Amino acid sequence: MKRMFTDCRLVSMHTSIEHTGGFQVVENAMIAVENGVISTVGTNLPTDGFECLSMAHRLVTPGFIDSHTHLVFAGDRATEFEQRLNGASYQDIAKQGGGILSTVAATRKASMEHLIELAVPRAQSLVSDGVTTIEVKSGYGLTVADELKMLRAANAISQHVDVNITTTLLGAHALPPEYQHNAEAYIDLVCNEMIPAAAEENLADAVDVFCETMAFTPAQMARVFDTALKHGLRIKGHTEQLSNQGGSALAASMGAVSVDHIEYLDDIGVKTLAEHGTVATLLPGAFYFLRETQMPPIDLLRANHVPMAVATDFNPGTSPFARLTLMMNMASTLFGLTTKETLYGVTRHAAQAVGMLTKGQIAAGFDADFAVWDVQTPAALSYQIGLSPLHARYLKGVKAND
Ligand code: NIG
Ligand code: FE
Repeated sequence: MKRMFTDCRLVSMHTSIEHTGGFQVVENAMIAVENGVISTVGTNLPTDGFECLSMAHRLVTPGFIDSHTHLVFAGDRATEFEQRLNGASYQDIAKQGGGILSTVAATRKASMEHLIELAVPRAQSLVSDGVTTIEVKSGYGLTVADELKMLRAANAISQHVDVNITTTLLGAHALPPEYQHNAEAYIDLVCNEMIPAAAEENLADAVDVFCETMAFTPAQMARVFDTALKHGLRIKGHTEQLSNQGGSALAASMGAVSVDHIEYLDDIGVKTLAEHGTVATLLPGAFYFLRETQMPPIDLLRANHVPMAVATDFNPGTSPFARLTLMMNMASTLFGLTTKETLYGVTRHAAQAVGMLTKGQIAAGFDADFAVWDVQTPAALSYQIGLSPLHARYLKGVKAND
């Protein structure tokens, strides 16, 4: 298949176009695609042998990547929202057996088919906002069988919605009730059974750990990551969300593709991310919904040239928001990111955060995943919420069904 996308107002997010940083609009751009991969980008390309598709001077960006979601789960936590509004903290609710464990109870009871049914409309909401790739975590099963059931459900989403899915095993999300006071034995289960089973069946691309006082220690995280790396899986962490445990620096030093939340990340942590090329993923939805006040160290991240991604963290407890453009808006209004930074955060840097290095930019050699928009400027993409200006999405050069 040879296709030429013509009449694009292109926002490539590709740095080799130095004077624009890939962010300024290139008028009348053309994108040549051969077998789903971009072969050339320019303004006056020969069209011989290509099927031409005019984008009618619409804005064309790389398809958005939501690099951190918990899209698969059963039940909801509206009552906990109410409890928090009445003064209980996220941690208090978890200590009483609610929080993550209440979603675990509901998810264990659900069949894989039901989990898929519940996840599909969430994925549809994300794609209506220009998303072409979604990372989906397990973490609400916490037994080998239930974690694998979640991963199978996650992988099945792309049979129902035109979207690329990348999956992450988050077996070390919380200590399940049957292992209370026996965290090491649970970590043994994650390392000796869950990771090998997920790797064997090719069900996960990465492994994540929640490193926090209410979850797992940096040492336990390191054990899980060691095992993941031995099985050829990428590693990434939920780190420094509610306190500074030094998890981000440890994860980065072990080769993590991203560390996520990072409100409590300190100076040494930022420098370690910079040293190892780890992406700092900002999750403003969770910050907002938990009414946090500790800001992620944006200026330090900028000063150290740490790539920042922005993701929904869609989940029932801390970020029930299936809109990536809303997160871009929040990353700007709450954390002070520029519109250029937020767009990097959902394209190029998001691709890096999930280790999919052929996505997130429009340049030769990259996958032809595009979002086409009825807006004039990139800033408009994170400006209005709820009125999605998406015109169309293309996956590997083929128009997606929306
Ligand atoms: O990314 N921090 C840990 N995990 C999720 C929340 C999970 C939940 O509360 O259900 C997060 O915020
Ligand atoms: Fe999360």
